[in-house]
Amino acid sequence: MRSVMLGVGSYLPTRVLTNAELAKRVDTSDEWIRERTGIRQRHIAAEGERTSDLAIDASRKALEAAGREAKDIDLIIVATTTPDLTFPATAARVQAALDVHQGAAFDLQAVCSGFIFALATADNFLARGQAKTALVIGAETFSRLLDWEDRGTCVLFGDGAGAVVLEAQADAGDRGVISTFIRTDGRMHDLLYVDGGPSQTQTTGKVRMIGNAVFRQAVEHISGAMLEACARAQVSIDAVDWFVPHQANQRILDGVARKLGIPVDKVVSTVGVHGNTSAASVPLALDAAVQDGRIKPGQLVLMEALGGGLTWGAALVRL
Ligand code: ACO
Repeated sequence: MRSVMLGVGSYLPTRVLTNAELAKRVDTSDEWIRERTGIRQRHIAAEGERTSDLAIDASRKALEAAGREAKDIDLIIVATTTPDLTFPATAARVQAALDVHQGAAFDLQAVCSGFIFALATADNFLARGQAKTALVIGAETFSRLLDWEDRGTCVLFGDGAGAVVLEAQADAGDRGVISTFIRTDGRMHDLLYVDGGPSQTQTTGKVRMIGNAVFRQAVEHISGAMLEACARAQVSIDAVDWFVPHQANQRILDGVARKLGIPVDKVVSTVGVHGNTSAASVPLALDAAVQDGRIKPGQLVLMEALGGGLTWGAALVRL
C-alpha cells in the first residue's frame, strides 16, 4: 500500500510586510535581513483571520487539484503551532468547514517540522489501512506569537498554509511516499520556544530563540535526516529531482546543499517572499514549484525540516 500524493494547495494572506516596514519598527535594515536570511518580505494574516481560515482555503485548493471531495476524506491532520484556540483542535474546525462528516481530525504540534511529522503520521495510518484518503495541512499565523520588539525573531517569520491530499493505493507503482524519518531531541528545548502556554503561564507567550545555536543544529540535523530518508529508501541523493526544504533561512538552505553536494538549482526556495512560515513552509514551497511547472508528476522530491523541540525530519515522495 502506498500513500500517493494526489494534489497540493496553498494560501497566503493578502497583506505583505516588507523589510523596509520592519526597519521602521525595530533597529534593523533591509540589507541586514537580506544578507543574513535571504528574506525580502512575508505575508501577515489580517485581523480576525485565523489559522483555520488559512488551512481551509489551502485544503479546498488541494482537494480540487487532487480531484477528491469531502466525502472521500477520512483523516485530517493540521500541523500547527498557532491553533485558533487551545481546544478543540483547529482540525475539527477545518473538518466542519469542509463538510467532512467521517473519520478523524486532529492537530499535530512539531513546530517548523510539523508538516513532515504530519505526513509521516498520515502515511502510517494509510499504510495500516486505518484511513483511505488524508488531508495533511501545515497552517500558521505565526505573526501572532512574535515579539515585535525583538529584532532577532520578528524579522524571520510569516503566515500561510499549505495542504496535500494523500490516498492509499495498492497499485501505485513507484509513486507515493517512499520513506519518512522524524526525530525529536527535547534536550534542546530551550534553544527555541514560546514563553507562554495554558499550563505554565496561562498566556499565549512570545517566541524566544538563540538563533545562532539553532542555525548550527539545523545544517547538521537536516543533512542527517535527508541522508537517512534516502538510505531507508535505498535511493542515492543524486537520484532526487527536487529538494523542498523548510524555508527558515537561505543560508541554511545553501549550507545543507553545499554539505550534501546538491546543485542549487534543484533546491526550491521561497524564503525570500514567504519568510519562515513554520509548519506551512514545506507545502507552500511544494505548491509554488508544482504550480510553476518545475516539479512534474513522476519526479522524486525530498522534503525536510527542523524546528523547536528540537524536532527534525525528512520525507521522500515520488509525485
Ligand atoms: N537586524 C540587525 N541586527 C540584528 C538583527 C536584525 N534583525 N537580529 C540580530 N541582530 C544582531 C544581534 O543583536 C547581534 O548583534 P551583536 O553582535 O551586537 O550582539 C548580531 O546581529 C549577530 O547576531 P547573531 O544571532 O549571531 O546573527 P546570525 O548571523 O546568527 O543571524 C539569525 C541571526 C538570522 C537569526 C540566524 O542565526 C538564523 O537564521 N538562525 C536560525 C534560526 C531560525 O531560522 N529559526 C527559525 C526556527 S528553526 C528553523 O526554522 C530552522
